[in-house]
Amino acid sequence: MTAATSPTSVQTALRHAAWISPVETGCTEAGNRPAYWLRGTFDWTAANQNPDTPNAADERAVLHATAHGIYELFVNGTRVGEDELTPGFTSYRKRLQVQQWDITDLLVRGENVVAALLSDGWFRGRHGFERRPDGFGTETAFLASVTNAPGTETFLSTGERWLCRESHITRADLMDGQTTDFRRHEPAGLSPSGPAGTAGTTAEGWVPVVGPAGLLYEDRSRLVLPASPPARRIEELRPVAVATPEPGITVVDFGQNINGWVRLGSLGPEGTRTLLRHGEVLDKAGLVSTANIRAFNFATKTPLPAGQVDEAVSAGRPGDVFEPRHTTHGFRYVQVEGQPGTLAAEDITAVVVHTPLDRTGWFECSDPRLNALHDAISWSFRSNACDVPTDCPQRERSGFTGDWQVFVDTAALMFDVAAFSEKWLRDLTADQWPDGRVPTVVPNPAGDGPSGNAFEDMAAGSAGWGDAAVLVPWSLWRAYGDKLALARAFPSMRGWVDYAAAAAAGARHPERSGRRPVPLAHEKFLWDTGFHFGEWLEPDSPPNPDPSRDHGIVATAYLFRSASVLARAAEALGDAAAAAKYGTLAEQVLAAWRAEYLDHNGILSEESQGHYVRALAFGLAPEALAPRTAARLAELIRGNGNRLGTGFLATGLLLPVLADHGYLDVAYELLLATGTPSWLGMLEAGATTMWEWWDGVSEEGARGSLNHYSKGAVGSFLYTHLAGIRLPEDPAPEETAYRRVTIAPQPGGSITSAAAAVVTPRGRISVSWTLQHGQFTLEVDLPDGVRAAVELPDGSSRPVFGGRHQFSCQLVGLAETHLNTARSGKPALQLDRT
Ligand code: BGC
Repeated sequence: MTAATSPTSVQTALRHAAWISPVETGCTEAGNRPAYWLRGTFDWTAANQNPDTPNAADERAVLHATAHGIYELFVNGTRVGEDELTPGFTSYRKRLQVQQWDITDLLVRGENVVAALLSDGWFRGRHGFERRPDGFGTETAFLASVTNAPGTETFLSTGERWLCRESHITRADLMDGQTTDFRRHEPAGLSPSGPAGTAGTTAEGWVPVVGPAGLLYEDRSRLVLPASPPARRIEELRPVAVATPEPGITVVDFGQNINGWVRLGSLGPEGTRTLLRHGEVLDKAGLVSTANIRAFNFATKTPLPAGQVDEAVSAGRPGDVFEPRHTTHGFRYVQVEGQPGTLAAEDITAVVVHTPLDRTGWFECSDPRLNALHDAISWSFRSNACDVPTDCPQRERSGFTGDWQVFVDTAALMFDVAAFSEKWLRDLTADQWPDGRVPTVVPNPAGDGPSGNAFEDMAAGSAGWGDAAVLVPWSLWRAYGDKLALARAFPSMRGWVDYAAAAAAGARHPERSGRRPVPLAHEKFLWDTGFHFGEWLEPDSPPNPDPSRDHGIVATAYLFRSASVLARAAEALGDAAAAAKYGTLAEQVLAAWRAEYLDHNGILSEESQGHYVRALAFGLAPEALAPRTAARLAELIRGNGNRLGTGFLATGLLLPVLADHGYLDVAYELLLATGTPSWLGMLEAGATTMWEWWDGVSEEGARGSLNHYSKGAVGSFLYTHLAGIRLPEDPAPEETAYRRVTIAPQPGGSITSAAAAVVTPRGRISVSWTLQHGQFTLEVDLPDGVRAAVELPDGSSRPVFGGRHQFSCQLVGLAETHLNTARSGKPALQLDRT
């Protein structure tokens, strides 16, 4: 059985199929609802099979299926395919993915049984900010057909002849967890020899399905083929430690924070209830603590249960294995309770689950701590790449726009994220409000308008988050150069910028109008109203956003960045009118930002590291003032005890900005700093993934998610500056997708060697350098056709075109000389190039 490659449109393949829903006989309380079986039968003898041409397309059987909820498929009792959590998470109201499989090899002559195991999943399960259930609807449903490959003949369709019953999965929620009662045998009727009889009977507890009704079911235009492959079980981890902190309680440490579930091979005697609690940390008594990942009810201001609890009820049958495939968790530790004996390490395995993504980036250097940081960043991404890019896998599991906006460049260096991001961007477009506003999470259960939840509706359209509509497609364009994808995203990019520009023009912040009753001309380009998260989660920042705060310095900066990118995108797509329009808008916004927030000495009216980083990274500070602006940033860092002070938005830009403006030494000091706040401080405290808060673990215990990739955006610095593989910031079309690169390694700190490789659409680019006894040696390997400007650490450069190249130079007193070079713009090193 293979994935089918039928050209048939999914609408045609499913034209005879009707949506069906189970009769809900079990608990209907959200979080505790069971999974249901749905089954249909068909006679394969009827198919016109010619034994001489068993592989002819019209003699293959292709199954198309999708669901409201998540489903596993079985043909004659055998699970179909390796995909998990199908149909995946999309903006279900407008886009619902249909999987297709060639199931010919699973069929027998005579009666065949197709069965689906259906649970709440993203559609009806609890997830998000407040773990609200029923996000997309109050019932689960299934739609499927079996046709020949061209779709001209239909062998089976979902409809009123299908039967259903409650399954052995007595509780299945996407995040709360799953209970499997092994005493409820797989019901008879899943295989053709079963005694359930033929379709239409009600033997063995099977009852006819019901037909759900409503506009959503009528709209077949939303059925689409997957834009990116579904999640898979990618890897398995063995326990690194098994402890018994209390009698009857075993705590298993898998040594790595991941997304997925565990497989348990020992279920105990009949009736044994084994509880599995998943978490990221242990408390002082060595028990799993989930206090840091409890979701929050904003209305009642109370924390919600963390969930992530699975349960297996044993039938005492040898060979039974518990593997919950209707839920997923973020965890490193699992607390096992209820087993009579001691759990052996070989009985439990962690299963890493996420979208299959090709690895494209490798990094290594002489400092093992940075290699561990690179690993932790990669794991954070893998933990948050389960069908959609999420903020965290354990507390919310939501596709926060801002998080992907800040991380996508790093992700695109490490993995091929083109299809994965493209899928998500289609959902972003689907969920964009008619006024161009972008919801804070995508896919958005509320769809393309307000949800009625006050905080959620107020937060939609925050600068830095909504800008994902523009900056994510731009990042993909830079890395992959897919013009069609850019063109597809363009209306949504434009919608966002138009929204932000109108919001800027439409209102003034009350404090500004109080101070200055008559607005200055530039103010219509200042975006100082509406809700914005701002820099968000700087060290020591308050945990709650203040809706009345003036975040104009951040929002206007993003409006400038997005308007300029949009102008560049329009230019790349040949839309001269749009390029001119948004180019002018960008200039006006820039002038407004400068007039309001920057003085003639390069100093900002509101000082924070984040604001200075943006001023330099986005080119808001004019070239002539940039050295002073950069000097002030360095001063702020020095004044802060040589500690970084950025939050969500600016952290990934901080080190590149410092390095590019003559403060490579400061960049390395921050990169290699330990303690709080710092990246290596996280690792020092035992992190295996990046934390949401800089002080994620302290004496007081854990705070917030310990698996957020946002602060891992520093990962790109390892490639772009430490190793030195760099794409142009705003490339011309012919420069995208690594057709033109800069190879500019910038050694620093105590690092004596580094190597990195990136598999690009043109081929593999690799760079390695060593620094020994003052001798800097660089090796560069480029695919044919790639043009590179190789810049050695003294700032001098040399063009090369494809192939393998070696360079070397003598470096004396690297740290100071390099600094002088960058700050004065003149080479200060003696170079001996070969
Ligand atoms: C999420 C973030 C998100 C933020 C602001 C948090 O609860 O975990 O990663 O970006 O809210 O919306």
